[in-house]
Amino acid sequence: MLNIEQDFHTVEREGEYSYTKNSRRQEMILLESIPMLENAIRKVLETLVVKTMTIADLGCSSGPNTLLFVSSLIDITTEQCSKDVECDPMELMIFLNDRPNNDFNQVFRSLENLKKGTSDQKRNTPLFYHISGLPKSYYKRLLPRESVHLFHSSSSLHWRSQCYREQFNKDFSTFLKLRHEELVYGGKMVLTFGGRKDEDVYNGELNKFFDLLAMSLRSLVTKGLVEREKLDSFNVPFYGPSIAEVKEIVVQSHMFELDHIKLFETNWDPYDDTEGDDVHDSARSGINVSKFTRAGLGPLIAGHFGETILDALFTEYPCFVSKHLEKEKTKFAIIAMSLTKV
Ligand SMILES: C[S@@+](CC[C@H](N)C(=O)[O-])C[C@H]1O[C@@H](n2cnc3c(N)ncnc32)[C@H](O)[C@@H]1O
Repeated sequence: MLNIEQDFHTVEREGEYSYTKNSRRQEMILLESIPMLENAIRKVLETLVVKTMTIADLGCSSGPNTLLFVSSLIDITTEQCSKDVECDPMELMIFLNDRPNNDFNQVFRSLENLKKGTSDQKRNTPLFYHISGLPKSYYKRLLPRESVHLFHSSSSLHWRSQCYREQFNKDFSTFLKLRHEELVYGGKMVLTFGGRKDEDVYNGELNKFFDLLAMSLRSLVTKGLVEREKLDSFNVPFYGPSIAEVKEIVVQSHMFELDHIKLFETNWDPYDDTEGDDVHDSARSGINVSKFTRAGLGPLIAGHFGETILDALFTEYPCFVSKHLEKEKTKFAIIAMSLTKV
């Protein structure tokens, strides 16, 4: 039985399959949303009188992207403030959120590099920042009413609180309602998460991606390494909505104005930055996709089937992936959006 509170987190520490070493795809996704983040911060500073800007990053995990997000935030705010003397002196209150079983010690260790980095940089205005951990599910209330100016979340909101497809509407509506309570009026959210290009829920790249994992698990059943009943009761609590599905929930909520929403694609192989339709080295791409998948889903799979199947599973899986990529280069569809509380 899946225990999402306990089993769902990325692979920790610094090992070969850790999220720290296998989060390049999420890094690219975060970088793609930086212009939206810049706009959101500019608007917050222009329209709200803020001496201390409160920001929360939801689903921060414990890899290098947390550091990337925090340093981008500091740089963008510093740049905005250097253009406008009114904002000086400005302070940032930053909350880093994830589930309680996330390795927050690793997060705070990685932020030590931030101090080194920023002290070397020339800044026109000194920017003070305070960073705290917030270990709780974001499907619960996290912060005091009307206290937050900006929520950010990258590569996380496609994870459901439970395993059912209908759960997306419920989860996303709950998420909007809770964040609406916590944001000040005019406060913003910049959210980036896995989505779907096609309206047909059964016709998507995510289906192909999870099909290959299912094929690898079935192959372990054939080899007697996994029981069929175990496989039948396994669900991945992941749902990639279409833009239309997301818009519908936002509109129905009557709580947010949608500033901007877009869908972009990114290759399955986190190290393949090419634009064309060819996969140059499908065996290498299979291994890259497999490491990325193991870093993200390893703990969830181990929680259900036991740790011992991981090596066998991730020996099968890259072969299925590379065979698939030989036929067809496949991409993830990512939705990025910016919302304002009204
Ligand atoms: C793929 S990681 C993304 C991490 C980081 N934002 C990045 O861009 O690299 C997804 C993270 O979302 C977290 N997460 C999933 N559901 C969550 C929830 N309900 N509340 C808080 N965090 C959650 C997971 O624990 C995981 O650390």
